[in-house]
Amino acid sequence: MRPLLLPLVALQLISSASAQLSDADLNTVAARLAQAAQQSWELGARAQAILSLNATDYSVYTASPYPPPQNVPSNITSAIAPVFSIARNVVSALGLRTNGSSNATSLELVAGDGAAGDPPSIGVAVLLANWTGRNSDDGLDYAKAAENQLDFLLNETPHTSDGAISHRVAQVQLWSDNVYMVPPFLALYGVHTSNKSLMGEAYNQVKLYRQYLRDDDADGLWKHIVLSTNADDGGVDEGHWSTGNGWAAAGMLRVLATMKHSSFSDDFKNEQNDLASWVKEIHSAVFNNIDDTNIFTNYADKSIKSSGSFYDAASTALIAATVYRFALLRDDHTHLPNAEKCRKALFATKGAVSASTTASAPASSGTASAARLGDLEHFTSDGWLTPVVDPHQVGVEGKESAEGNAFVLELQAAYREWVAAGSPGINAASRAAATSSITALALLLGISLLF
Ligand SMILES: *[C@@H]1O[C@H](CO)[C@@H](O)[C@H](O)[C@H]1NC(C)=O
Ligand SMILES: *[C@@H]1O[C@H](CO)[C@@H](O)[C@H](O)[C@H]1NC(C)=O
Ligand SMILES: *[C@@H]1O[C@H](CO)[C@@H](O)[C@H](O)[C@H]1NC(C)=O
Ligand SMILES: *[C@@H]1O[C@H](CO)[C@@H](O)[C@H](O)[C@H]1NC(C)=O
Ligand SMILES: *[C@@H]1O[C@H](CO)[C@@H](O)[C@H](O)[C@H]1NC(C)=O
Repeated sequence: MRPLLLPLVALQLISSASAQLSDADLNTVAARLAQAAQQSWELGARAQAILSLNATDYSVYTASPYPPPQNVPSNITSAIAPVFSIARNVVSALGLRTNGSSNATSLELVAGDGAAGDPPSIGVAVLLANWTGRNSDDGLDYAKAAENQLDFLLNETPHTSDGAISHRVAQVQLWSDNVYMVPPFLALYGVHTSNKSLMGEAYNQVKLYRQYLRDDDADGLWKHIVLSTNADDGGVDEGHWSTGNGWAAAGMLRVLATMKHSSFSDDFKNEQNDLASWVKEIHSAVFNNIDDTNIFTNYADKSIKSSGSFYDAASTALIAATVYRFALLRDDHTHLPNAEKCRKALFATKGAVSASTTASAPASSGTASAARLGDLEHFTSDGWLTPVVDPHQVGVEGKESAEGNAFVLELQAAYREWVAAGSPGINAASRAAATSSITALALLLGISLLF
């Protein structure tokens, strides 16, 4: 019995190291996301996740030049449909119809949203609906909706004296979240309307936000919210919220990718270099603080032992996703070993070690037959990432996070593209893991030969 069992154990150890979600698992995670995404930024994050994972030709991470074809190819129609339906629901609620019966009163894509910075995240879906000619199909004026949203940001939202656009309508507050919501919209708007100065403004906003939020006293971690004087409107939070650091890194990468794949690329070489160095600065700062669980705490530099601290799989998924994106865009693999550790921790099977010693058959490998969600440490059986911060109350642990599930799709998408590109940097990435797997295998085979 034993000599037969031990090599199987070794095989299982190796296959769990390449754990990933199956297509069925991803569909379940995406279904929970679709149900839970209600707030403006959640709709924006969902649209972006679907583009990243499933309609990649229409994502700014596309390998082809951006913007994408105006006629959506038939084999992409169903994958991109949820993105268009987000745009349709939002613009039709505004009442921006093309038949002259428009009754829109709001410039914001979501009327009355107190967060000036969140509705623009849906702008990506709206710009794509316009670009691909959905106006006539839906009877909705997507171009006008995008134009109004831009107008609101540039002309109606309060700014700092040096030009940073507030995240809130009522008073100037700068939030790290904003970097994911606003600059990518400005950059995309610039490409869709051939407006180079808007692309420049996307960069300028990132630069300003970094000047205010980057914390020299914390190794370059970003603060969450500055300048707020009103805890009842938005907030006051100078802590180094992990998801906020992830939002900032991911937003900068989307601006960088938009620049790089657009016809403006050569005009923004220095800006792309800056954005890359700022993303890497966040990576270095956050990974300096992660503990050996390879899951971030809710505030990156607050240890799990400090009062109110808890582990947060959502920011972990988002930050890991940005490392694969960074590697693909910049050919820099410095933090891949860290991202691989996070990914393996997030997609690990429950009680991986104890289960594998009693298993009688190796887990099968490959996407289609990877572990089911209920068997995974960081997912509930119905498809929620766990544990996660409450996205509507960022100091406390929550459940059923829409953005957390969106980050899972982003992670899987980025990881899959990195694997498809030949896993560049894999040697650096997997040196430690590979050595220990080989050692384990050799050890176990050696032991089994003794019997
Ligand atoms: C769609 O079809 C085109 C042309 O046949 C092909 O090049 C492309 O890879 C397909 N895309 C997807 C997402 O299947
Ligand atoms: C991706 O798109 C296909 C249809 O093209 C759909 O069946 C699948 O559910 C989508 N997956 C996700 C995760 O949205
Ligand atoms: C505009 O009309 C639509 C459809 O009748 C309605 O759903 C929407 O609430 C109206 N919007 C405003 C701002 O009145
Ligand atoms: C809308 O799409 C058209 C192409 O169909 C493009 O020329 C125009 O600039 C777009 N407008 C906006 C605001 O994106
Ligand atoms: C670019 O966009 C800005 C903001 O809407 C606008 O003021 C400017 O005129 C545009 N430039 C061009 C060349 O269209």
